[in-house]
Amino acid sequence: MKHFLHVVGARPNFMKAAPLLRALEAKSVRQTLVHSGQHYDRNMSDVFFDQLGIREPDVNLQVGGGSHAQQTAAIMSRFEPVLLEKKPDAVIVYGDVNSTTAVAIVCAKLGVKLVHVESGLRSFDRTMPEEINRLITDQLADVLLTPSIDGNENLQREGIAASKVHLVGNIMIDTLVHLLPVAEERFATLAAEYALKSFGLVTLHRPANVDDITRLRPIVEALDRIAADLPLIFPVHPRTRQHLDEHGVKITRLRVVGPLPYVDFLALQKHAALVMTDSGGVQEESTYLGVPCLTVRENTERPVTLTIGTNILVGFDLEMLEREAHKIIAGAGKTGAVPPLWDGHTAERIADLLVASDSHSMVVTV
Ligand code: UD1
Repeated sequence: MKHFLHVVGARPNFMKAAPLLRALEAKSVRQTLVHSGQHYDRNMSDVFFDQLGIREPDVNLQVGGGSHAQQTAAIMSRFEPVLLEKKPDAVIVYGDVNSTTAVAIVCAKLGVKLVHVESGLRSFDRTMPEEINRLITDQLADVLLTPSIDGNENLQREGIAASKVHLVGNIMIDTLVHLLPVAEERFATLAAEYALKSFGLVTLHRPANVDDITRLRPIVEALDRIAADLPLIFPVHPRTRQHLDEHGVKITRLRVVGPLPYVDFLALQKHAALVMTDSGGVQEESTYLGVPCLTVRENTERPVTLTIGTNILVGFDLEMLEREAHKIIAGAGKTGAVPPLWDGHTAERIADLLVASDSHSMVVTV
């Protein structure tokens, strides 16, 4: 029986692992789940495990926060003995967080097959910690599973053998499709709780936007002005909260709340008139939902959300942010379509690929 070991670490990993754990459950394979503990607050981790139906991790490395080097090193040194003890046939990692890369390095050094889900995305911006994580993980992975064709093109350009790369679609959309009915039910309660009619949703957590107060303050001020015309709900990430508190940034109109559970956030996103974000995942979810999205970043590693979807990059041009927001509020927002293979069946395609019995396939043969 094949044995797959999944590693998750931070919030965006959980939505990607849940459907694959479920799809592999339906096959006769053994699975081990390791949580690095990179995200550790109840509302950044446990709530997601509950709502996504992910079972208790078999191992929690409990690394917590720290600098990038500290966090990466702690994950590496705590994961190595787990890998030696569990001896899986392959390790599956997700996305681009520090846990993903730390585990990839350990696997490569120990010669354990590595599967990377959400491979090939590139922002071409090496000041982003996630871009460094993507580059390293993809160089080391044995099986690279891409969400969109641009991922295949990027990997080819980096000299990665095409035989290792598979276009499987966007696994995070599997979770969205799976939980949308639950979110729709939840919306009525939220709408009453927040007294909502028309509203927008905001998230901000990228270091480039929130760690530097000379950048964070004007963004929040612009959002606060937009909120004069459309109520805006702003679930605040712990990183952002730290900086807002430290510098006493004054918020008058934005409805600031703590990090929301997955289902609540999805329910609000589905019904929002407008989303403003610097998250990768939210750009994709809003494209799937057909909700206009303004991304407060200079670049995106998810270009199909621009070419096919509802996303617009506004960079640090805050006048553009306000202009585009008002266009959307006036009903003239960008419309879009759903990219190919964002259909809710990505995890099944991956599971089929990973357990394919054909020994000549490039898949994890053991
Ligand atoms: C990480 C990922 C990012 C992802 C984001 C989603 C990396 C490099 N970045 O960024 O790609 O979009 O998660 O949330 O891996 N903290 C808490 N409680 C928690 C988790 C974090 O208070 O449960 C604090 C940390 O102590 C730290 C800050 O929030 O001070 C940032 O956490 P960290 O894991 O370093 O990175 P994120 O900004 O969350």
